[in-house]
Amino acid sequence: MTGLGDIAAVGADLRRGGFSRHGYDRAELELREWFTAEAGRRGLDVECDGNGNLWAWWGAPGDGAVITGSHLDSVPGGGAFDGPLGVVSALEAVDVLRAKGFTPGKPFAVVVFAEEEGGRFGVACLGSRLLTGAITPEAALRLSDSDGVTLAEAMRAAGLDPARVGPDQRALRRIGTFVELHVEQGRGLVDLGALVGVARSILAHGRWRVTVTGEGNHAGATLMVDRRDPMVAAAQVVLAARRAGSAVEGARATVGRLVPNPGGTNVIPSSVDLWLDARADDDARTRAVVAEITAAAQAAAADEGCAVTVTEESYGDTVVFDAALRDSVAGVLGGVPALPTGAGHDAGILAAHVPTAMLFVRNPTGISHAPAEFAEPDDCAAGTRALADVLEELAR
Ligand code: GLV
Ligand code: MN
Ligand code: MN
Ligand code: MN
Repeated sequence: MTGLGDIAAVGADLRRGGFSRHGYDRAELELREWFTAEAGRRGLDVECDGNGNLWAWWGAPGDGAVITGSHLDSVPGGGAFDGPLGVVSALEAVDVLRAKGFTPGKPFAVVVFAEEEGGRFGVACLGSRLLTGAITPEAALRLSDSDGVTLAEAMRAAGLDPARVGPDQRALRRIGTFVELHVEQGRGLVDLGALVGVARSILAHGRWRVTVTGEGNHAGATLMVDRRDPMVAAAQVVLAARRAGSAVEGARATVGRLVPNPGGTNVIPSSVDLWLDARADDDARTRAVVAEITAAAQAAAADEGCAVTVTEESYGDTVVFDAALRDSVAGVLGGVPALPTGAGHDAGILAAHVPTAMLFVRNPTGISHAPAEFAEPDDCAAGTRALADVLEELAR
């Protein structure tokens, strides 16, 4: 059996705590190698598509396959489970099925999607978005990380050809059904007293970059009345996010990243970039939250003599998972609960194209995207058994 323990040292972030594993960085590349070796040990044939997603085929590749898997990258200082649990459980489910003497009657593969969190290049689900055409190759290849390294450069450094990036009809035809197992990122299952559940829906969500530009100056020599400080306007944007997110039922608005330029203790910044993550039940509510925050940003910038721009960097409308597949998966598992989620997933991107389901494994605190993210080993084992049962049913 392969456990999360095998990869516990890879990308461990001693400064922030948790793990920092981002698309094509050293840690993520090491995890890709680990995955390739684990798949190889099981006799699965691994191929990398043009968008950097890894596919480990149990038997011959083909159209209409049963596909399971998740991602290996993390948010900065993320938990051990978000992503890797779905990959490890998929490999373990293959072991469980093999031990039962099962051979898939359909093409079958375990997938690892590239840069799901967008922790390096800023756009979440980059591998699945590129595959399905939800982002153009031109837009993706222009993305760069905080050191200015572009996606194209990072792919080249990883031995991949950026000229192959883009919509992949062949890969899409091969996905008959996709099932992603994931640690739950909330307390739904704990509250229901269930170990495992299925996903019902994903909130509409997106990311917006807010750039406030003022006047860089000296922290000691500049009188308070003479300042055009973009940080003061940025602070108002953070407060507006809290206000607007709280005012709309079910909405969430977060500023998790704020970068002053140049960023010195004794320097009034000349500009501040911050990123707004906004989510809600539907498009209209999400747009309303963002519109309110944008208006507050414009007012705060004007008050401070600053300029502001708000740019949408990525967006996806509400996802409702295929009801027939969801009900049949829940049925295979003896009627487990169906839950909505506020988190985005590659499964959410694929759901617009192919029947897609998600299994959630109980998370005792509901914490995720943080080092405290956790699932009990017994619950993870129950998740693997559930995944194996579902895959057996789908691939027989
Ligand atoms: C990804 O996990 C997200 O929901 O932001
Ligand atoms: Mn995540
Ligand atoms: Mn995830
Ligand atoms: Mn995610």
